[in-house]
This record gives sequence, C-alpha cells and structure tokens, in this order.
Amino acid sequence: MIELKGKKAVVLGGRTGLLGQSLTEVLRSHGAVTIPLSRNDFDPLNEESLTALLEREEPDFIVNTIAYTMVDQAEDEEKKAHLLNTTFPVILARLAKKHNSKLIHFSTDFVFDGKKDSPYTEEDKTNPKSVYGETKLAGESQLIKLGYENILIIRTAWLFGPNKTNFVHKILNFAQERDCLNIVHDQNGSPTYTPDLAEYTAQLLIAEATGIFNVVNSGKASWCELAAEAINCAGVNCLVNPVPTSSYPTKAYRPSYSVLDTEKFIKITGITPRPWVQALRDYIYNDIEEQ
Ligand SMILES: NC(=O)c1ccc[n+]([C@@H]2O[C@H](COP(=O)([O-])OP(=O)(O)OC[C@H]3O[C@@H](n4cnc5c(N)ncnc54)[C@H](OP(=O)(O)O)[C@@H]3O)[C@@H](O)[C@H]2O)c1
Repeated sequence: MIELKGKKAVVLGGRTGLLGQSLTEVLRSHGAVTIPLSRNDFDPLNEESLTALLEREEPDFIVNTIAYTMVDQAEDEEKKAHLLNTTFPVILARLAKKHNSKLIHFSTDFVFDGKKDSPYTEEDKTNPKSVYGETKLAGESQLIKLGYENILIIRTAWLFGPNKTNFVHKILNFAQERDCLNIVHDQNGSPTYTPDLAEYTAQLLIAEATGIFNVVNSGKASWCELAAEAINCAGVNCLVNPVPTSSYPTKAYRPSYSVLDTEKFIKITGITPRPWVQALRDYIYNDIEEQ
C-alpha cells in the first residue's frame, strides 16, 4: 500500500477529457500533485516533446486518458486511431520505464465481441470487431509485451460524468425536446460514472496494482434501460421506445453484451463498486442540476 499524498501525476487528457477531468479532481483530493495536460500542452506523437515534458515534471504517475474515441469514425480513420490508441501508449510506456514512472492506461469493453452471456473477466478471450476495439487491444497487448512491470491497464465502459457531454447528457437534452425517443435495447453493458472510476483508479494506485483490471460500476443495463432510468430520474416527460440495433445501423460493430466482471478489482482493493443506478442519481442531482 502507498500514500498518494505528495505524489506527482501527469494526467494526459486531464483538461478536456471526460475521464481525465474526474481523475485530475480525485487524485488532487487524495493529496497528489496533478498536472492536467491537453493537446495544446504537448504533441502526443512527438517523442521529443514527450521526453521534454517528462524530464521537466519527473512524475510518479503518467495517467493516459488520451485516445481516439470516435468509434464509427475510426472505421474510416484506421491510421489515426492506431497512432493514438496503439503507438502513443507504447511511446509512453518506454518513456515511463526510462523515467521510472508508473503508467496508467485505459482500455475498453470493445476488446470483446459480445458473444458471451455472463460478465467478461480479464482472462476472457478478446476478439474486437471494430477498428476502435482492435487498436485499443493492440495498445494493451503491446504494453504487456514490453515487459515493463509498472503498468496498470484499466478496462472500462459506457462512461458518463460531469464536465463533458456523454450519452446520458445527450439523452436528457433530446428528452426535453421530444415526446418519444427510440433507443436500442439489445446492447448490454456496464454504465460507469467517471468520478467513481477515478476514485477506484486511485484505490488501485494505493494498492500498487499492476496488469489488467476491469473497473466499472456494478449492475448491467441496455442503452434503453440507461436512458429510461436517466429520464425518469430527471423527471422529464418523454417515452422511451426500445428498438433493435438493426433499426439503427452504425458503421462500427458494437458488442451486444460487454458487461465487465470486477472480482479482481474487489479482491485487491476490498472495494465493491457501487451500482450504476446510484451513481446516475449523483450525476443527475449533483452534477447536471448544478450546471
Ligand atoms: N467514453 C467511454 O464510454 C469509454 C468507454 C470505454 C473506454 N473508454 C476509454 O477511456 C479513456 C478515456 O475516455 P474519455 O471518454 O474520457 O475520452 P474523451 O473524453 O474522448 O477524451 C479523450 C482525450 O483525448 C484527447 N485527444 C483526442 N485526440 C487527440 C489528439 N489527436 N491529440 C491530443 N489529444 C487528443 C482529447 O483532447 P481534446 O478534448 O482536445 O480533443 C481528450 O482530452 C480512453 O482510453 C477510452 O478509450 C472510454
């Protein structure tokens, strides 16, 4: 176990990213010195600029939330997605090793094909079916292959939270304007609140965890259930109509089932992630209504 107080964390994506902003706040609340950075502060694909940054800051932790996250657009921009999701983390890991920093990197439930019908563990066979999923998995695999021990890879899913738009935020805006929304009911996952994920990440750092961990809120939902719960919780008058994925074809394949199992996380931290429904209430009552 270590204390985070006084530790220095460079948070890549910490100024503008959905998760990065929550991580910056939470690590700071644990007493860590956080340096949130965005694309204006450095060029992620320029090794010299990254080296200069790390030599200047000498961080204990390099927290990488930067990614190419546009799942459909990635199908047309494979090279760009590969650079950010695969090449970039590998550069970071090499530099982390050189500077004796721990690298914390985030991955996704989209590394799975969704053919299972019980929660995916860290050991389950991966089989991504989209460019986004493939490039994120290649990032994970290459990090593991480097053989640098001090790397923590966190697979997460279906993020919502303050400071940046996300699925729940968009649904609540649409619901204000329409009487009825059609939302897919045949994709099931693990909705996850970014402040919770950030706190659970901090707990993994305290526990000195390395390797791959699934970290999500507990429970499962379809997009339709998540939307209906959010609309109900916000007290908006709008019907949610369940529709199949086939009625809304997207460019990228999405797994029909990608719930993540968090037993490994629970075992090492002693913490059971709280249910997503509870976290959703915090988001709607505390974050959205304050805006
Ligand atoms: N969102 C989800 O539902 C979800 C689900 C599973 C896994 N994840 C993973 O969780 C991590 C964080 O996701 P997120 O939703 O917080 O991502 P996000 O909000 O889309 O943030 C990504 C960050 O990457 C930066 N970025 C993107 N392209 C860049 C480029 N070319 N150069 C420099 N910076 C660039 C963005 O900066 P700008 O703001 O300047 O563009 C932003 O700070 C990612 O690894 C993602 O794969 C997310």
